Amino acid sequence: MKEIVITAGSSSSIVKIGESIENINNYASIENTVIITDENVNRLYSGLFSHYRTIVIGTGEEIKNISTIEYIIKKLIELRCDRKTFILGIGGGVVSDIAGFAASIYMRGLNFGFISSSLLSQVDASVGGKNGVNIDGLKNMIGTINQPEFVICDHSMLKTLPDDEYINGIAELIKTSCLDNDGLFQFISDNREKLLKRNEDIISEAVYKSVKFKAKIVEEDEKETGVRKILNLGHTLGHGIEKVKSLKHGFAVAIGISFALYISRDSGLLSLSVEREIVDILKYFGLPAALNEVADKKNISEIIDAVRSDKKRDTDGVDFVLLNGIGRSVIKKIDYDELTEYILDYIERGN
Ligand code: GLY
Repeated sequence: MKEIVITAGSSSSIVKIGESIENINNYASIENTVIITDENVNRLYSGLFSHYRTIVIGTGEEIKNISTIEYIIKKLIELRCDRKTFILGIGGGVVSDIAGFAASIYMRGLNFGFISSSLLSQVDASVGGKNGVNIDGLKNMIGTINQPEFVICDHSMLKTLPDDEYINGIAELIKTSCLDNDGLFQFISDNREKLLKRNEDIISEAVYKSVKFKAKIVEEDEKETGVRKILNLGHTLGHGIEKVKSLKHGFAVAIGISFALYISRDSGLLSLSVEREIVDILKYFGLPAALNEVADKKNISEIIDAVRSDKKRDTDGVDFVLLNGIGRSVIKKIDYDELTEYILDYIERGN
């Protein structure tokens, strides 16, 4: 097992990479803990935590809404939870976003931690303190930044993930690898076959490298006023596509990444060979790397409207994360007319 400590603001969080859910009793007392998990995780793993009080929620991005938060808060009241209660989210990114948010607002804030059961949450979502829910399909419109006490990344739980859920996480891993300047991209490229076959040692090393990079960024800029914005590579268009086409997050982000690469090259920042190298990796894992795989010109205005409603917008445009090489990112403001043109060109260009 490897550990990474993230110290951000006045709190710190420890990420335990390769720890097992079977050691749950070492992290959460039976008297004070309430587990929040989803139906799938509960069905597969409840034998390991049935001695705890548990709130079970549904699955999927659709349940990441304020009604689920209200449901949880009412359950916490019913269970007579007080400020000593510890909330333990067991699940993927949706569970950690919801459990972290419910814990952050119940009685003005309870301590919480996660056992992360999806690749997407191990490499990204459960780490860094962001939590929240969507409003009318608009991603994470309410939430807080509040660090979990711990995040346990149990890679053996990834064996039960459906293929598309696993690949969903690979997209966020590739995103981080484009930003990291410590060899993560090369590692993924060299180990692509083993990663696709879910080799646990390779997954563990990839998660470690990804969390190490993210920890450095979060420590520098927990509240996303500066450098943390680069973690949104592929997310601005990605969130728009996710809303309009109901794609899984990672699949939409993959298209967002390839769009950002296209703008980067068009702006003279990125060479065609690096663009192709990244697109090839996305495709190797079966991720979409072109907007016209999921949308056509008919959807453009809807997608642009969704991008304009994203929380990263500004009145005059959107901050886009671009690359000028692997491990080198720049943020460029793109106004909405320019964005529309870019999207039209990009659709036209095809694959
Ligand atoms: N998922 C991006 C971030 O945590 O900032």
